[in-house]
Amino acid sequence: MAAEHDHDYYGNRPNAATPQRRVVEAKPPANRRRSTRYVPRMASLLRIDASMDLAGSTTRRLTQAFTDAWVARFGDNSVVERDLAQAPLPYLTDHNVHFAAPLRPPGVVVDEADDQLVDELIGELEAADAVVLGVPLYNYSIPATLKTWIDYVHIAGRTAGVPTLPFAGRPAILCTARGASYASGEPSEGWDHASAALTVVLGDSMGMNVEAITTDLTLSARFGMGAEVVAIAEAQLAAALARAVELGATLPLPVLNPCGR
Ligand SMILES: Cc1cc2nc3c(=O)[nH]c(=O)nc-3n(C[C@H](O)[C@H](O)[C@H](O)COP(=O)(O)O)c2cc1C
Repeated sequence: MAAEHDHDYYGNRPNAATPQRRVVEAKPPANRRRSTRYVPRMASLLRIDASMDLAGSTTRRLTQAFTDAWVARFGDNSVVERDLAQAPLPYLTDHNVHFAAPLRPPGVVVDEADDQLVDELIGELEAADAVVLGVPLYNYSIPATLKTWIDYVHIAGRTAGVPTLPFAGRPAILCTARGASYASGEPSEGWDHASAALTVVLGDSMGMNVEAITTDLTLSARFGMGAEVVAIAEAQLAAALARAVELGATLPLPVLNPCGR
């Protein structure tokens, strides 16, 4: 699915009065559902994990719950996994890679390996009907490994800043976990710069339908915050796991061009 984009690469919207919706679509567009060209096929999920914690990670529990529900729906071979903590990508070191070839100054030569990695990672996204991302909050920000993945897939003139965004309408589920509380009214409200930045990059800039499943206070037991706070954390986790299962089992997928992929 592709959609006309209403702002430029830096977020300016000369004619737009309302912000883009970033919720998961309830239904595929009616005209596409009636299309006689539509051929049902197995859907594919890209699962991305970034937590360094391989034993007790909350975000990994959430992405696993989503994935299990997805596999029950679409089968064992419907998931591609990329674990950025166990297999980190190299940092991007050439600023020219952020720009698609036509936007590079004449004569600029980019390391072929960089462009190949861009193609590989964007290719994984192209092959996926949906992406589920584990997003642990590290120092109020995106984990460096996940930020590096963003550096390779958010490419000006290719996946962003083009009139027809290639990933428009593609669902992106953020499974976030935060040690503290960022609830409305807390002193730390608004300090989570991971979910906010990812929503801008994947949603506003790349046009994906972003939904966040959020858990707070994951460190409440470790920091001895008391039974009442621990109970709140447990309730949040239970609700988040239930939402992950629900979305994995029922997430409406965009109707993609069956001849195009
Ligand atoms: C390097 C690092 C930095 C962290 N920074 C923060 C932080 O800024 N704010 C916060 O609330 N929790 C922070 N935490 C706690 C994690 O957000 C929390 O443990 C969360 O559950 C991590 O996700 P995971 O369980 O999937 O590993 C940090 C943890 C680590 C390891």
